[in-house]
Amino acid sequence: LTRHTPMIITIPDVLTPEQVAYGRKILDEAEWVDGRVTAGHQSAQAKDNMQLPEGSPAARELGEMILKALGRNPLFLSAALPLHIFPPLFNRYSGGQSFGTHVDNAIRTVPGTAHRIRTDLSCTLFFVNPDEYDGGELCIEDTYGIQKVKLPAGSMVLYPSTSLHYVTPVTRGARVCSFFWLQSMIRDDSRRSILFDLDLAIQRLGRDLPGNQAAGETAIQLTGVYHNLLRQWAEM
Ligand code: NI
Repeated sequence: LTRHTPMIITIPDVLTPEQVAYGRKILDEAEWVDGRVTAGHQSAQAKDNMQLPEGSPAARELGEMILKALGRNPLFLSAALPLHIFPPLFNRYSGGQSFGTHVDNAIRTVPGTAHRIRTDLSCTLFFVNPDEYDGGELCIEDTYGIQKVKLPAGSMVLYPSTSLHYVTPVTRGARVCSFFWLQSMIRDDSRRSILFDLDLAIQRLGRDLPGNQAAGETAIQLTGVYHNLLRQWAEM
């Protein structure tokens, strides 16, 4: 388990190598448009990349593949406690393209619906490996400084949507990612972080002390604490 900081969480192997390869084939053949279409007013000025049109067949098919994979990923579910997930979008940076410092919009309307999502967590899922391009680091400003993120294909980073972030210029190759947002059942980052830590500790008890009766009883008690905190804090 890699955790850059308490708030920036890496989810390895969200997609299998086969799913990544399939996704890349679709993405290579898809038609890309100027990324400013989904940017807010401030971020439009900072943004220079390409995107798949929202709701295009390619975006829809790969988005469903990603959401299905996330629904089966215990680490993601525990870290994010998702309530609503925005349909995944896709972007591509090459030839020096970058995205300057910005904050993501707080509220997003799901295209084609009246449904609005509060963006608590921002997600970036990588479709290319770090050695395939230079630059293109996702830089996230948090309380501990600037965290630079560049993950293997198939892996994803989750970070608070409240953070300032930017993508450095891609000077060789292409950086192809999916990006989206989610509304968590737990709006507050520090509460969500406490629940995540508690869940990890409970899992560790079962894993490191299998068959130990006292550990088993403690796990049951702590699981009760987990659910009682979730009941206190969850918004739906
Ligand atoms: Ni952003």
